Amino acid sequence: MALQLGDIAPDFEADTTEGHIKFHEWLGDSWGVLFSHPKNFTPVCTTELGATAKLKPEFEKRGVKVMGISVDPLDAHEAWSKDIEETQGAALNFPLIADPDKKVANLYGMIHPNASDTLTVRSVFVIGPDKKIKLRLDYPASTGRNFDEILRVIDSLQLTAEHQVATPVNWKHGEDVIIVPAVSDEEASKKYPEGWRAEKPYLRYVRSPR
Ligand code: BEZ
Repeated sequence: MALQLGDIAPDFEADTTEGHIKFHEWLGDSWGVLFSHPKNFTPVCTTELGATAKLKPEFEKRGVKVMGISVDPLDAHEAWSKDIEETQGAALNFPLIADPDKKVANLYGMIHPNASDTLTVRSVFVIGPDKKIKLRLDYPASTGRNFDEILRVIDSLQLTAEHQVATPVNWKHGEDVIIVPAVSDEEASKKYPEGWRAEKPYLRYVRSPR
C-alpha cells in the first residue's frame, strides 16, 4: 500500500552527493523534506534544484533538512551539479541521492508505472521530527513544483503541531488562524484571553500564536 500521512517515513541507506547516509540518522531531530527528480540533465529538474539551493536559508530557519533523489548514478549527479550552478546561479548545497537501482524510489512509491516505468514522478515528502510523514505531494514530470508553497505548508505544519489551531484557505505565516473544534469556548477563553472572532460557533479566528 502507498505510504500515507502519519506513516513512519521508511529508513534507508544511500549514496549521495554528500557521502553515504543513513536517512533517519541524517534527519536526527530535524524536520525533513525528501523530493524526487525524474532524471538528470533535464530542464525542469535543473530549475527546481537551483531554486531549492537558493531557499536553503528559509529551510534552515524552520529547522528543516532537505534531500533530493534522482535515479541516476553519482558521477552523473556531480556533472549535472556544475550545470545547475552555471545556469541557476546556485550550487547544490544539500544531498542528492544517487538511486540507479531505484531502491529508494520504489520504497517511497515515487515510480508511478502508468505515468512512466523508468522515471520517478515529482514527489515531495515532508517528515516531522517523529519521523512520521506529514505531507506527500505528487506532481507530473512536466510541472515544476512551487517551493514557496512547500515552505508555506511547513509553516502551517509547525504551527499546528505546537498549538491547537488549523490554518484557513491560502493562509500565510503571520495571518490569523482557526481555533480547532476540539477546543471549547471555555478553553479558548483561557488560551486566548484577548478574545477571538467567531463568524459561526464553529468558525473562530484568532491571531497567530507565533
Ligand atoms: C524535466 O525535468 O524537464 C523533465 C523531466 C522528465 C520529463 C519531462 C521533463
